[in-house]
Amino acid sequence: MDGGTGCERMRYAAITGWGMAVPDRVLTNADLERMVETTDEWIASRTGIRERRVVGPNDSTTSLGSAAAKQALERAGLTANDIDLIVVATCTPDQFLVSQACLIQAEIGGNAGALDIGAACSGFVYALSQGSVYIQAGQAERVLVIGVDTLTRFVDWSDRSTCILFGDGAGAVVLEATDEPRGLLSTVLGADGAGSKHLYIPGWGGLVPESAELFPEYRPYLQMNGREVFRFAVRVMGDAAAEAVKRAGLSFADIDMLIPHQANLRIIDAAAERLNLPKEKVMVNIDRYGNTSAASIPIALVEAESSGRLKDGDNLVFVAFGGGLAWAAGVVRWGR
Ligand code: UT7
Repeated sequence: MDGGTGCERMRYAAITGWGMAVPDRVLTNADLERMVETTDEWIASRTGIRERRVVGPNDSTTSLGSAAAKQALERAGLTANDIDLIVVATCTPDQFLVSQACLIQAEIGGNAGALDIGAACSGFVYALSQGSVYIQAGQAERVLVIGVDTLTRFVDWSDRSTCILFGDGAGAVVLEATDEPRGLLSTVLGADGAGSKHLYIPGWGGLVPESAELFPEYRPYLQMNGREVFRFAVRVMGDAAAEAVKRAGLSFADIDMLIPHQANLRIIDAAAERLNLPKEKVMVNIDRYGNTSAASIPIALVEAESSGRLKDGDNLVFVAFGGGLAWAAGVVRWGR
């Protein structure tokens, strides 16, 4: 859109590089059958998950995030020295001080500004929004956005209602300034902090829980009220995605692909139905990775691209929900 003088042009933040990384170790539903009272049939039919990747002793949030970032930079034909800002979305940083973004920078190099975003499973879309805004405001030319989580380090492997859901991984994109309408065209961000009690990890912060008396044995495990989160997810995924399409000035018929947070196939199906999208326009890879939290959308994006499902100018909808309770959606126009 031209400004008042007629010579100002809008800046956009195109996605020019992308990459992903997952640990080598595969944990199948059959493996879980040997660990807790569950079945492959229950997990697959209730969630759509068949296997997930789990960190080993040599993997970390830093190693996965760095590997995805290096791929994304290479794809963009850039090095870390070309980047002005690194934004990392994670709820499982390797340590508190320093930021996860600085830990990844130590691996990939450069001197870009570096900051973390804490929005759990919605984190990647929040971070993409943050990175795009810096570019649109003229504060940065090139931004590296990373979504990475290693939630399997924080699940209680004896709790069948949560341990079957999560996997580990990382995805990254490079954003570059352009005058073409590319990248994030609209954003919807929301949160309901009153719902924080439905999905959280206690004792992983400054507030010391009573159970810390058990220290050093104490480990903070993820707590979740699955039914509440499910109800919330079905509502906000559809609403947020529909609002993002509207804010982009588009209609559902203009959408080429939905790339949703991969938490539960039934939730994804409900969002697709709300947008009136057929299955072939919905990216699903939850069967192989489970819920990788902030990494799930960028991993799905990379796999959509590598399987030849994206073409220049496509309108993609990203939509996510999770701990917060937070949600986020955006329409992304693919291509440089
Ligand atoms: O990024 C956000 C992360 N969180 C989510 O996305 C979670 C959203 N919620 C969900 O995906 C679903 O609520 C779950 C997959 C977690 C659970 O599915 P559900 O259809 O809501 O099951 P439920 O919690 O209502 O449990 C139904 C039954 C219960 O048994 P009873 O009480 O009916 O006898 C559970 O104990 O299924 C039982 N159950 C299991 N059975 C076999 C719970 N987990 C398992 C399991 N294997 N792994």
